[in-house]
This record gives sequence, structure tokens and C-alpha cells, in this order.
Amino acid sequence: MKGPILSGKRIKLQPIKLADAPHFVRWFGDKKVAVYLLRQKPITLPEEKAWIKKMLRAKDKIIWSIFNENWKLIGNTGLTIDAKNKAASFGIVIGEKDQWGKGYAGECLKLIGNFVFKKLKYNRLELEVYMKNKRALRVYEKAGFLLEGVKRQKLKNAITKKFEDEGVMSILSKEWKF
Ligand SMILES: CC(C)(COP(=O)(O)OP(=O)(O)OC[C@H]1O[C@@H](n2cnc3c(N)ncnc32)[C@H](O)[C@@H]1OP(=O)(O)O)[C@@H](O)C(=O)NCCC(=O)NCCS
Repeated sequence: MKGPILSGKRIKLQPIKLADAPHFVRWFGDKKVAVYLLRQKPITLPEEKAWIKKMLRAKDKIIWSIFNENWKLIGNTGLTIDAKNKAASFGIVIGEKDQWGKGYAGECLKLIGNFVFKKLKYNRLELEVYMKNKRALRVYEKAGFLLEGVKRQKLKNAITKKFEDEGVMSILSKEWKF
């Protein structure tokens, strides 16, 4: 499904488009970016274009490209929507490593949370995260997400070749402070 354009202080979220695919292919082929992603296999350009078309058709998915204040495409983010339970699941990648640590993920999460809780009026936003992904955990904790539990050695990491723990985090509408 195509989402609305969302604008923050610095970043803009725009619905993904086919022209973005080469950037996504490069990010997912970079082990430093992919090491704590659920989607870890390097992806070809045709596969990525097919994925974008599928996401735009899917009724329960909204995926945006993230642009910084210089209109540079730096990442993507998305929601899986569970309309029946008024819940959504969140994912993010800042694919350009030189853009890490500048607060863009935190700003993106605020835009997405406001969309989920204020526009859609949903009750719950959740995500899954490698417990080793300290940078991501910090972003989610700062936004007020609670760690609900840890699935021990749930994920076989294709890059580290190890079994690793997966955390489940969530925030409810009544807890959202932005
Ligand atoms: C994880 C990710 C989304 C974070 O994006 P970002 O834009 O760099 O995040 P922010 O700049 O908003 O915040 C990063 C925070 O982590 C902190 N941090 C950085 N490295 C850290 C580390 N090794 N341990 C703990 N905290 C760390 C930063 O200090 C900052 O916190 P602060 O604002 O209190 O100073 C980004 O690095 C990324 O896309 N990585 C690859 C894909 C990925 O892992 N996605 C998440 C899947 S769940």
C-alpha cells in the first residue's frame, strides 16, 4: 500500500518507488548494514524491484524511503499493519553508514509513531531486534519502547553464523509521548 508523505524537522518519508531499488540492493549487500537485519541475503536488482512492486500492492504493508535534509536517500522504513487488532510492526534501515549516529532513526520513529497512533489511531506498535544491535536498542528505548521478552538464540545469523537472541519490543498508544 502507498503511504502518505511524512515530513519531520530534517527527514522526509516518501513512498518507495522502483527508482530507489539500486540503493536498496547496495545496502542489503553490505554486511555491516545487514548483520542485524532479518533480511540478510544479498539481493539482485530484479528481486528488489519485484519486492517493491509486491510491497506497493500488499494491503498490510507501507514502506517509505527516508531522505535527509539534503534530499539524499539514506534508508527505508516500513510498517506491517494488523488492522483487526489495531497493531503495527515496525522496521528500519539507515543504509548509508556515514549517516548513522545523526539521530535520523530516532526522528523517523517519531514520524512513524505519530502516524500509527495519531493518524491511524492504532493501539500498539511493535518490533523485533537482535539483542546485539545496541544502537537500534538505544533508539527504541529512547522512544519509550519496552522490552517484552527475549527469544533465546531464536535467529541463525547468516553473517556471524551464530545463533543469536531476538528481543521483542513494543509501545502502546497511551504510552506514546510525542
Ligand atoms: C540501527 C539504526 C537504525 C540506528 O540509526 P541511527 O540513525 O544511527 O540512530 P540514531 O542516530 O537516531 O541513534 C543512535 C543512538 O545509539 C547510540 N549508539 C551508537 N552506537 C552505540 C553502541 N555501540 N551502543 C549503544 N548505543 C550506541 C547513539 O549514541 C544514539 O543514541 P543517543 O541519541 O542517545 O546519543 C542504523 O544504525 C541502521 O540502520 N543500522 C543497520 C540496520 C539495522 O540494524 N536496523 C535496525 C534493525 S532492528
